[in-house]
Amino acid sequence: MKRLIIPLIVSLLSLNVSAFAHPLIDVVPEPNSIVYGNGSFSLSRTTSIVCPGSKDRLGAYLRDQLAFFTHLRLRIDRTQAANGNSIVLNLDKAFNGLGPEAYSLHVSRESVVLSAQTQEGLFRGLQTVLQLIPLPDSAVNGTYKIPSCTIVDYPRFAWRGLNLDCVRHFMAPAFIKRYIDLLAYYKFNVFHWHLTDDQGWRIQIEKYPRLTSVGAWRNEGNGERYGGFYTQKEIKEIVAYAASRFITVVPEIEMPGHCQASLAAYPENACVPGPFQVGTQWGVYPNIYDPAKKSTFTFLENVLSEVVRLFPSHYIHIGGDEVPKTEWEQNAGCQKLMKQMGLKNTDELQSYFIRKIQKFLESKGRQIIGWNEILEGEGPLPGAVVESWQGIDGAIKAVRNGDYTIVSPGEYTYLSRDADDLSLDSVYSFNPIPPGLTPSQQQRVLGTEASMWSEHAPQQKVDSKMFPRLLAIAEDAWTNPQNKNFDNFHQRLQVQYGRLAYLGVDYGLEQKAMTYRTEFEKDTRAFVVSLKPTQSGISLRYTIGDTLTMSDSHPYHGPVSMDTTGTFIAQAEMNGRLAGNPLVLSFMIDKALGSEVTLANPYSPEYTAGGPGGLVDGIRGTLNFKDGLWQGFKGTGLDATVDMGKEKKISELGAGFLQSTSSYIFMPEYVQFFVSKDGKNFTRVGVVKNDISERNPASIEKDFVITIKPEDVRYFRVVAKNIGVCPPWHPGAGAKAWIFTDELFAN
Ligand code: ACM
Repeated sequence: MKRLIIPLIVSLLSLNVSAFAHPLIDVVPEPNSIVYGNGSFSLSRTTSIVCPGSKDRLGAYLRDQLAFFTHLRLRIDRTQAANGNSIVLNLDKAFNGLGPEAYSLHVSRESVVLSAQTQEGLFRGLQTVLQLIPLPDSAVNGTYKIPSCTIVDYPRFAWRGLNLDCVRHFMAPAFIKRYIDLLAYYKFNVFHWHLTDDQGWRIQIEKYPRLTSVGAWRNEGNGERYGGFYTQKEIKEIVAYAASRFITVVPEIEMPGHCQASLAAYPENACVPGPFQVGTQWGVYPNIYDPAKKSTFTFLENVLSEVVRLFPSHYIHIGGDEVPKTEWEQNAGCQKLMKQMGLKNTDELQSYFIRKIQKFLESKGRQIIGWNEILEGEGPLPGAVVESWQGIDGAIKAVRNGDYTIVSPGEYTYLSRDADDLSLDSVYSFNPIPPGLTPSQQQRVLGTEASMWSEHAPQQKVDSKMFPRLLAIAEDAWTNPQNKNFDNFHQRLQVQYGRLAYLGVDYGLEQKAMTYRTEFEKDTRAFVVSLKPTQSGISLRYTIGDTLTMSDSHPYHGPVSMDTTGTFIAQAEMNGRLAGNPLVLSFMIDKALGSEVTLANPYSPEYTAGGPGGLVDGIRGTLNFKDGLWQGFKGTGLDATVDMGKEKKISELGAGFLQSTSSYIFMPEYVQFFVSKDGKNFTRVGVVKNDISERNPASIEKDFVITIKPEDVRYFRVVAKNIGVCPPWHPGAGAKAWIFTDELFAN
């Protein structure tokens, strides 16, 4: 520690005004200590890399990386100590106390000196060096200025991972290596490789060739056979490639569920008779491994024996998530096994399964990681690592049991979610240590991981979903909370965008691309839509019509007027392509626009459509019930009286509704319409019965409309009957049903 502290104190004493006007050091993740110095080091053609002793490989790595980032090819000097104009890699056994990944970096006018106790520490520090160097367009006469500073840095967590699902979509080996480099650049150290699932088996197993000849391929809706797998040779190459970047590859082999592809290849391991098809739909399949057959475990142990030979990782991920246990409940063999073993329920049968596999892997010197569901029933034996994805409860339970945990709650770390839905600042706000843990329990939090589930992320879309949010995860995992600050991170990110572009990363959005405002201008009887992008580097395009493509859209330069019924669509453009979800606003210009509405039953405070006038504002709701454009009524019907202010000749009345049964929203049973001249005496003029099946799982919009003999009326009333409660077949059977309405209209 002494050797560490002395240079720090010296630098602190030399702090002067220039420190307050220091250049931005845009390193991500933010180092845990930076002291700014004076001046800068000039990296040029004549600089040498000094790596005395046994650090040749790192010296060559640095040379190659510098050649990529600067177009300079530096000389490696393996013999001498630093004597100026050099980058020195210094393996220093005395540099200790901050963990194996710690490093210190001293940049002065004369040299760049990187010190660490281990090669791994040097490797992490090299990433900081690479990020301190400006990009080629900022070089002056082939010289790159690196700001003087002293950095002492070490990770907050030992586990900083990315879980990449290569099942739902197959990703090429070269793409995996590219991601390993990107992970290295941001100081991640774990690549969690999701290799098996219902929709595919992607790892060659020599003993069971059908796992890949059958299990790696699925029939797509368009008749195409989709798939792919990694040969053992490719896997060894990837593992070695990652190891040379101090990244551990942790394979995930799913059991006892998420195994339909495996069962398609070897149906004898299932609880029910096959044959099975490799999954072609997203979601969880009900077919699972049969623990009552000895041969199932023989199969899995043979598979895992090959897995262990391929992956030196101490930890092997065995999945364990989302196991539908109905087949175990209905299977005579499973029931008999449960009786024999004294297992009270199928949760305990799952623990029996997990523990058996855990013991097998322990016999091979390995330990299991499982998703938080492995805690169900009796849980695993001591020593398992629990990866908490359904919130943080699994993590808390694991550390209270004395076990280790990886904290990856979906609401912060699932980058497969759109940025609309999980913004950069939310990801950045994540603290992997759950509240309320004792210091020793906190020690059992290994770290965190980002997850990229690839149902909606084929290889070519992964970059735009992953970035820039992966940088926030990098900082959540590396940087101590007291050194984290979103505004500062965001400022550094603006420079990092240049680095990402240089690396060829097709990064996406930080959050929902734009905010919008709509106003109805009474004089022109037109809607005016104003848009505002939420981040730099994006422009907005819009069109009026049904689709937005580059060819039929216009650049947005200012408010757009809509004076007829129609749809306004806007989308962000970024890096030459459309990015994020489009904003779709449908406007309706009708005779009820801007009327007074009186409601017999109040709408829910959660779904107001902007208030009392929301049903006659001319803005239609979208298929997203949370878009703020719908009024929701829970358990009650809609009973609205509309006062148009004066008599108008009316020949059509209507009301719009939404059905989204997974959110307990159903179409009304029927909608009745009444008209009146005086607001007291109403005449019923029609009723429209619902014709949308309540079992239709899609989100559906429907206008209930009647035409009448043209008549002068001032008032109309709409009564929509709620079905009351969710029907018996529905998961929410008996709970109050909602009706959602967006607009009442007259023409
Ligand atoms: C998971 O998202 N099922 C781990």
